[in-house]
Amino acid sequence: MELIEAIEKRHSVRQYKDAPIEKEKREILDGYASLLSKQGDLNIQVLYEEPSCFDSRLAHYGKFKNVKNYAVIAGKKDGSEKERAGYYGELFVLKAQTLGLNSCWAALTHGKSKAALKEGEKEIIVIALGYGENDGVPHKNKDVNSLAPDLDKGPEWFRKGVDAAMKAPTAVNQQKFSLKLLEGNRVKASAVGLGTLLKLDLGIVKCHFEIGAGKENFKWA
Ligand SMILES: Cc1cc2nc3c(=O)[nH]c(=O)nc-3n(C[C@H](O)[C@H](O)[C@H](O)COP(=O)(O)O)c2cc1C
Repeated sequence: MELIEAIEKRHSVRQYKDAPIEKEKREILDGYASLLSKQGDLNIQVLYEEPSCFDSRLAHYGKFKNVKNYAVIAGKKDGSEKERAGYYGELFVLKAQTLGLNSCWAALTHGKSKAALKEGEKEIIVIALGYGENDGVPHKNKDVNSLAPDLDKGPEWFRKGVDAAMKAPTAVNQQKFSLKLLEGNRVKASAVGLGTLLKLDLGIVKCHFEIGAGKENFKWA
């Protein structure tokens, strides 16, 4: 499955089956987590058959059920760690989707993770993982022209990028971002407004935009 197909198929899933993630898939996920950790200067760990993190009152309140596997994204604080966590975390999510696994980002509605952090690192976010009881449903979208005002006059790659960005998960589906087309095939992606999760969202949105538009077609401004 290509990443663009994974974008189409991915929706947040909060209820999981008992089926464990197979050894071969764990090896792929662990290998990819360590590659992304290097590329993004992060510490991405996957925990398997560890039900306690999503067995809290908050997690149940957030409608999570039977989450036994999750990824934890940790890193050193330098002002860019949230956007990097969003970008590299979403690559991980999409890889999991290509393996037939469902997922859900979780900033708030989970308990304490069992990730082993290194000195100076802080936990940025958690992603629930596993075989879903269902595949989730597409989220509602804001008016695309309000998020990407240059859409109509933009080239095809820009439209494809925006389309993929609209399918990106954002915290409480807030979609508080904008994508502007600039001269010289440059694109400016910005978070709009205030909120602690906006930078994470922005990293996720940029990841989707790149996959949709094709990295070779543009540069980030
Ligand atoms: C940064 C971030 C944090 C999130 N935190 C939570 C959370 O704490 N609890 C939860 O149930 N969903 C959480 N979500 C999932 C969003 O609610 C979901 O992505 C959004 O409603 C869009 O739906 P979709 O993922 O099905 O496209 C989070 C998503 C993102 C991107």
